[in-house]
Amino acid sequence: MNVLEAILTRRSVRAYKPDPIPPDIWADLLKAMQQAPSASNRQPWKFIIVDDPALKEKLADASFSQKFIAQAPRVVVIAGNRLDAWRGKGGFVQHWEIVDCAIAMDHLTLAAWERGLGTCWIAAYDAAKVEELLGIREPWHLVVLSPVGWPAEVSPYRGRKPLDEIVAYNKFR
Ligand SMILES: Cc1cc2nc3c(=O)[nH]c(=O)nc-3n(C[C@H](O)[C@H](O)[C@H](O)COP(=O)(O)O)c2cc1C
Repeated sequence: MNVLEAILTRRSVRAYKPDPIPPDIWADLLKAMQQAPSASNRQPWKFIIVDDPALKEKLADASFSQKFIAQAPRVVVIAGNRLDAWRGKGGFVQHWEIVDCAIAMDHLTLAAWERGLGTCWIAAYDAAKVEELLGIREPWHLVVLSPVGWPAEVSPYRGRKPLDEIVAYNKFR
């Protein structure tokens, strides 16, 4: 599967088999996150891997009871560092660590899919609860998390806005 195929076929996965992830595949996923681009290459991220069953349950509960999170053998939690991120120069975005962590998560979703594994971006969470559970403290903060595992079911294609609605050449419209 090439990158474009992975982009075009990937779907969020909200049901997982309990089967473990082989170490060689897992190593590739960690590398995919590690190699993500970041503003000024500051890499203001930590990747916290949760595989303890009781902790996964607590994470799912702290994510508005999205129980499928705990079905996956592993959950990747990405924390960003407010102070270590590149500071925008007069731009709108003040928290580039969020953008950087989002890119790392997208690397994970695509690399996982290419290996037959499913993921699901999770941003519906109680940040304070998740941070407390994992010991994430200032200047670090939770950005996003995702279960990673073998799909038991794949969500149907949700469709996208047509290109002529979202693409403009030379001028905003
Ligand atoms: C920032 C962000 C937050 C999301 N949070 C959740 C979430 O908390 N729970 C969930 O089930 N899906 C979540 N999603 C997944 C989206 O619902 C999903 O990507 C979208 O509906 C498109 O479906 P697809 O991923 O199958 O293409 C999130 C996606 C993004 C990008």
